[in-house]
Amino acid sequence: MNLTAETITAAPSATRPRQGLHVITWGCQMNVYDSARMSDVLRPLGYGPVDTPEDADMIILNTCHIRERATEKVFSELGKLRKIRDERVQGGKSRTVIAVAGCVAQAAGEEILSRAPYVDLVLGPQTYHRLPEMVARAARAGGTVIDTDFPAEQKFDYLPDQAAPQTNGNLTAFLTIQEGCDKFCSFCVVPYTRGAESSRPVASVIAEARRMVMSGVREITLLGQNVNAYHGLDENGRSTTLAELAIDLAKIPGLERIRYSTSHPRDVEQTLIDAHRDIPALMPFLHLPVQSGSDRVLKAMNRGHTADEYRDIIRRLREARPDLALSSDFIVGHPGESEQDFQDTMQLIRDVGFASAYSFKYSPRPGTPAAGQPLQVAEDVKDRRLAELQALLREQQDAFNESLVGTVQDVLITGLGRKPGQLAGRSPYLQPVHFDGPAELIGQIVKVSITIRRTNSLGGVLIRETALAC
Ligand code: 5AD
Ligand code: SF4
Repeated sequence: MNLTAETITAAPSATRPRQGLHVITWGCQMNVYDSARMSDVLRPLGYGPVDTPEDADMIILNTCHIRERATEKVFSELGKLRKIRDERVQGGKSRTVIAVAGCVAQAAGEEILSRAPYVDLVLGPQTYHRLPEMVARAARAGGTVIDTDFPAEQKFDYLPDQAAPQTNGNLTAFLTIQEGCDKFCSFCVVPYTRGAESSRPVASVIAEARRMVMSGVREITLLGQNVNAYHGLDENGRSTTLAELAIDLAKIPGLERIRYSTSHPRDVEQTLIDAHRDIPALMPFLHLPVQSGSDRVLKAMNRGHTADEYRDIIRRLREARPDLALSSDFIVGHPGESEQDFQDTMQLIRDVGFASAYSFKYSPRPGTPAAGQPLQVAEDVKDRRLAELQALLREQQDAFNESLVGTVQDVLITGLGRKPGQLAGRSPYLQPVHFDGPAELIGQIVKVSITIRRTNSLGGVLIRETALAC
């Protein structure tokens, strides 16, 4: 299929003066997506990306509140940005608009107003479709404009199409399909910063995916705080599951790979497990956070499942898709976590076997139930447990990568490698893979014989289709 770019989106107005936009993104994949969409919203106003804050007429700091010291990090960054703005003004350039977006803006908007009154805009994750209006208000009135509502309207209905392919050119993309969370895990700020669970309608997701594919994207990661709680409405007003959505997306010609993140064990239904068996485009790599392997801690965390229920889900998933590999999130030192609880987590890790994982020390977040609990675990104990857990996870990651040496993997070639003549791509398991080959292959999925495991990547040899045909 010949995928052309012309049909995608209108180019930004050529008549408007071009203004430099610099977006600094912290935190999760959804923030990466949101930052791109904020750029889209501002494009019709003449804003285009610049690489450094010094060159920017507007700077957006897209923040994350998930773990400690997030707020202090924002104020320290804002201090630097203010200096940059002062220097620009002294040099006769325009006064930079400074905006704070994302979850810290949502959770600490008032504090930003009082401690950094020089900030122009403060906006939460649900209101960035209103950015143009906020920019205009700030220009008119001066002072800080703040919008941290949870508006009744869905921002997705008001966002313009993505950047035209010539400004983007990506082969992989994130696509938010669901947002917010009603699970209220004891430790987590997300339900307070991102709001209640909501899903985008099917047609809107499919249309966005089609646009992405038309612009050259081959791999889409569907995003949501609880992505497998997706329940978007179809054209008949019927609630649709993630599995059904994946079936529809897999029909888009040119969309070779589909992933989704982040899932919750409680929402892994049989239909989703079956989808892993039935949809080849659904990649055999799943991020399914478990947080702890102790039933006592899982209960205290309000996770709504036991360790054995998690093991059972994994067993069923592997039955459906034997080459499935897993990734997870772990927290050590949740209030009340005993040594035995921690050992139960280590046992679950040994039982399941993870290809990769993220692990954190519990950090109390203001306003969450766990933060106020007695029996907080001492810092040195958390340090020791985290080191032990990470050593085991590292061992498992190395073993998984090693197990691929001698196999042939499908690799999506995403660009040139660092060495001359080298290509870089990603395996089905999101590992970077490097091998020699011609640049014309960029964008294709090729077969690579894996010959070496490095610390965080694989090396291999391209298998030519012609060779395969012989
Ligand atoms: N402390 C430590 N880790 C946390 N996470 C979320 N909240 C906290 C917290 N208060 C971790 C969880 C989650 C991941 C995105 O961040 O493991 O899955
Ligand atoms: Fe946070 Fe739990 Fe919701 Fe995940 S499921 S976003 S950890 S509250």
